[in-house]
Amino acid sequence: MLLARTQRMDRNPPMATEIQTTLIILKPDAVQRSLMGRIMSRFEDKGLQIVGCKMMRISRELAERHYEVHRGKPFHERLVQFMTSSPVLVMAVRGVGAVEICRKLMGFKFGSQAEPGTIRGDFGVSNSFNLIHGSDSPETAQFELALFFDAGELVEIDRAIEGWVYDLSTGSPE
Ligand code: TYD
Ligand code: MG
Repeated sequence: MLLARTQRMDRNPPMATEIQTTLIILKPDAVQRSLMGRIMSRFEDKGLQIVGCKMMRISRELAERHYEVHRGKPFHERLVQFMTSSPVLVMAVRGVGAVEICRKLMGFKFGSQAEPGTIRGDFGVSNSFNLIHGSDSPETAQFELALFFDAGELVEIDRAIEGWVYDLSTGSPE
């Protein structure tokens, strides 16, 4: 019923209505360029919760598992080298429909073509050094979160502001 109402309202494809947690990585270029705070603010400003966050140096093994889906593609080796070249910041980001919302905030995959207003569109021009990774589906998010975080590393945040971030009057966050 929730979904039907949303579809009637704006005729967009249905958005997820459940709370999701997704994996975001601020890549080595974002860390080196001192953009971490400004990029994290985009997610906080939107109303999403950061429920896990740490700096790390990604090992080759972890990078290869994370980008397994791109194995054999011409850019794969350069991508793995880039992701392991310098520390990254990994985040678990939570909210209703968080997977798709984060992908929209990130923008198109290539910095040169990413829309202004998106993270990739506002902060970069390179296609391979594109600042940020975000899981592309709820299933991918589960797989990727498990690669980077132990279950105990994610927190539950009982935010006082939640009733102003979401309309909770229907019993589920809208
Ligand atoms: P992809 O999963 O297609 O993009 P996204 O990060 O938006 O999910 O590609 C993974 C990363 O690989 C991408 O962020 C940048 C890099 N890449 C290249 O360097 N060259 C390419 O031609 C492509 C398709 C990706
Ligand atoms: Mg991808």
